[in-house]
Amino acid sequence: MDPIRNPFAPGAGSQPPELAGRDEIIREAEIALKRILQGRHDRSQILLGLRGTGKTVLLNKIERLAEEAGYLTSFIEAPEDKSLAELLYPRIHQVLRKLSIVENAKEKAYSAMRALRGFASVFKIEVGDFSLSVDPEAGTADSGNLEFDLSDLFVRVGEAAKSADKGWALLIDEMQYLNEKELAALIVAIHRVNQKQLPVIMFGAGLPQIAALSGDAKSYAERLFKYPPVGALDQEAAVSAIKEPISEEGEHIESDALDLIVERTEGYPYFLQEWGYQAWNTADQSPISRHDVERASETALKRLDDGFFKVRFDRLTPKEREYVIAMAELGTGPYRSSDVADHLGEPPSKLGPRRAQIINKGMIYSPEYGDIAFTVPMFDDFLRRTMVKPS
Ligand SMILES: Nc1ncnc2c1ncn2[C@@H]1O[C@H](COP(=O)(O)OP(=O)(O)O)[C@@H](O)[C@H]1O
Ligand SMILES: [Mg+2]
Repeated sequence: MDPIRNPFAPGAGSQPPELAGRDEIIREAEIALKRILQGRHDRSQILLGLRGTGKTVLLNKIERLAEEAGYLTSFIEAPEDKSLAELLYPRIHQVLRKLSIVENAKEKAYSAMRALRGFASVFKIEVGDFSLSVDPEAGTADSGNLEFDLSDLFVRVGEAAKSADKGWALLIDEMQYLNEKELAALIVAIHRVNQKQLPVIMFGAGLPQIAALSGDAKSYAERLFKYPPVGALDQEAAVSAIKEPISEEGEHIESDALDLIVERTEGYPYFLQEWGYQAWNTADQSPISRHDVERASETALKRLDDGFFKVRFDRLTPKEREYVIAMAELGTGPYRSSDVADHLGEPPSKLGPRRAQIINKGMIYSPEYGDIAFTVPMFDDFLRRTMVKPS
């Protein structure tokens, strides 16, 4: 069918034509946003899920909801090679600039800018185009201890936002790449603004290991945050993720074709988009049949193998590849680390550092003590399809 009218959107962070099965998460986010803005208690949230489940898309959606509710927003993505302080600086700068033109908030905004200035110098941030023409305020956000300084800074930003009758929403994607100190500082800073009932809220997203990481960083993190799970879609939602966009275009898909898509994708959002996309392009005409989906499956898998899966695999060193291939050879996860070691013929203690390295790269995680699993759904199938040599 006409590829130009193809509604599906496979791709990292691509807005899906139908945001299926996420009503509950969206509703909870909206309630928290509104409550916090009114000075009521609610919790910041960290969306947890595997790769390609739709976390970035949800964060984008929540950012729009926040703006509609009356928040200034800052969206950052934690990369592997930049500090949290560096990422936050230009974003907070931008928020304070906006607040500084609101008459009632001017004074507080300048006070926050002074704090930001001190923060930038103590953490040696390259300010570039974002330099501040205010003097730092000695003793505020400039101790060099990230926990104290980030708290000071968040409090100042919160006070400035409050005087403008606004809120500040901080959205952080790929949170698993923050280091433990940064994570701890964020938790403390959010805790601080909560206690002061300031209109500041954080929404994070990342791989499932964050729950444990943040618990290690600060024991009260568990009570401070909500951790909505973002997983595969259930049958009904998966069906509507495919069916609705096709109907919107005035076309149809047969129900056994839908069933096959749900079966092959196991309801994982990224895979649903890829299958929907290929099924549409493969079919000669509407309605899309089961046979069309069978043919499309080959193209869809090939595209995933060459893209989604491969980019992840390419980031591993030869030794790390050996490790993940050994996992896949054991079948479907989660896997006992000791079984992987056995399979490789090495003592588990020797493999510890390698395992930790692969976890740091966000390729595997530990769902439970002693266990490991892939952070990419169906990655084991991919490895068996493409890497494992028949013995
Ligand atoms: N609720 C949903 N329903 C249908 N498709 C979705 C949904 N959420 C995300 N997608 C699609 O899944 C893919 C991955 O989304 P993304 O937000 O990048 O995932 P993540 O950030 O978890 O890796 C995108 O192509 C997106 O359009
Ligand atoms: Mg993402």
